[in-house]
Amino acid sequence: MANIVLVGAQWGDEGKGKIIDVLTEKSDIIVRTQGGNNAGHTVFIGTTKYVLHLVPSGILHKSKICIIGNGVVVDPIGLVKEIEGLLSMNVQVAGQLFISQTAHVVMPWHKELDALKESKKGSNKIGTTKNGIGPAYSEKADRTGIRVIDFIHPERFKTLLKNKIEEHNETFAANGIPTMDFDEIYNLYSKAAEKLKPLVADTVTLLHEAWKQNKSILFEGAQGTFLDIDHGTYPFVTSSNTTSGGACTGSGFPPNRIDKVVGVAKAYSTRVGSGPMPSENEEISNHLHGLGREFGATTGRPRRCGWHDAVATRTAVMLNGIDELALTNLDGLDTFDTVKLCVAYECDGIQYRYVPSDITVLERCKPVYKELPGWKTPTTAIRSWDDLPENARNYLKNLEKESETHLSIISVGPARDETFSV
Ligand code: IMP
Repeated sequence: MANIVLVGAQWGDEGKGKIIDVLTEKSDIIVRTQGGNNAGHTVFIGTTKYVLHLVPSGILHKSKICIIGNGVVVDPIGLVKEIEGLLSMNVQVAGQLFISQTAHVVMPWHKELDALKESKKGSNKIGTTKNGIGPAYSEKADRTGIRVIDFIHPERFKTLLKNKIEEHNETFAANGIPTMDFDEIYNLYSKAAEKLKPLVADTVTLLHEAWKQNKSILFEGAQGTFLDIDHGTYPFVTSSNTTSGGACTGSGFPPNRIDKVVGVAKAYSTRVGSGPMPSENEEISNHLHGLGREFGATTGRPRRCGWHDAVATRTAVMLNGIDELALTNLDGLDTFDTVKLCVAYECDGIQYRYVPSDITVLERCKPVYKELPGWKTPTTAIRSWDDLPENARNYLKNLEKESETHLSIISVGPARDETFSV
């Protein structure tokens, strides 16, 4: 089995957790490489629902090694809570989960600053998850962040924490936010540090040794291509590289050892938070919300929904080098008389085949649709390409052609086995 990078080909929430879970069966090691607990990967095993924010979902499989790589920003309190939740469900982490020494930690001031910055933006707000992700990455880029290796050494942590609290209390006081108390934060966070310390490792070397032993490594992306800090719909993006390159920088694993990139997209489109989404559509939003679908795993917010945007998927294929596409939530389209596929954008008389990077253009783009007949048949019980209704196959073939990639996996329901290969 190969070393695989899995990426979201849309705006996040593509159903990556489930596809990761399917691919994990054939992997030895699963690595998170960017983002933080802004992500929420939902996995159903039987009727048990697991929502993971920081821990790779590979942890649900016995004997798989899971790594939180250097590119991740780790909320220590959130991570301890997640680990304790797993332990209470009889999922073991000792000897299976490792945290990079050089990942950065998310601290309480990051969350406060996230909320403060959003409130100051008014109607231009990004709609962040308020988990402190942007401010944590800002401090990392500013070279003033706290890394896991410093966090787990009490004396080093004490000194860094004192300086940081002093620095940020000035901003807090100026903005009418209650100031932070050193002892309170130190006591709380040093307890988390003690619990996490046994899991901290040199994960770069660990991955290198695994590669030398021919182990299969799966890099699980969080968020999606159009939330990428460089290639997404800036400024309505997250603060990390969600595209395939981020898997290498976020883990220390070199690009020439990656064998395959798998993209994940929904049969339709969704987005949480602000920012352009040309194929957004009220009919499909109301329909999916009415079915109780498309509410955020992390924030519970209703997601914005629209028809599948093949312009976006085509662009994601280009940016990530997607070799294969896993398509999820096909069953969400089961009841429509007609289904639409956005195949181009139009703005000022110009047609776009790829997502324009000028947001002032993108915001005004209108979708150009190809209309196809719906299949009006439940697909959740289907387990093979040949058993799909003809109109569903026709829709998928059009989607595949317009996206300029190959469909490899189709998912027709939330459970692990509601999936088949093409
Ligand atoms: P942040 O990552 O919390 O800073 O949020 C920035 C933007 O990315 C907001 O629009 C969020 O809704 C979006 N976002 C962050 N994480 C996810 C995710 O896991 N799924 C979908 N959207 C996300």
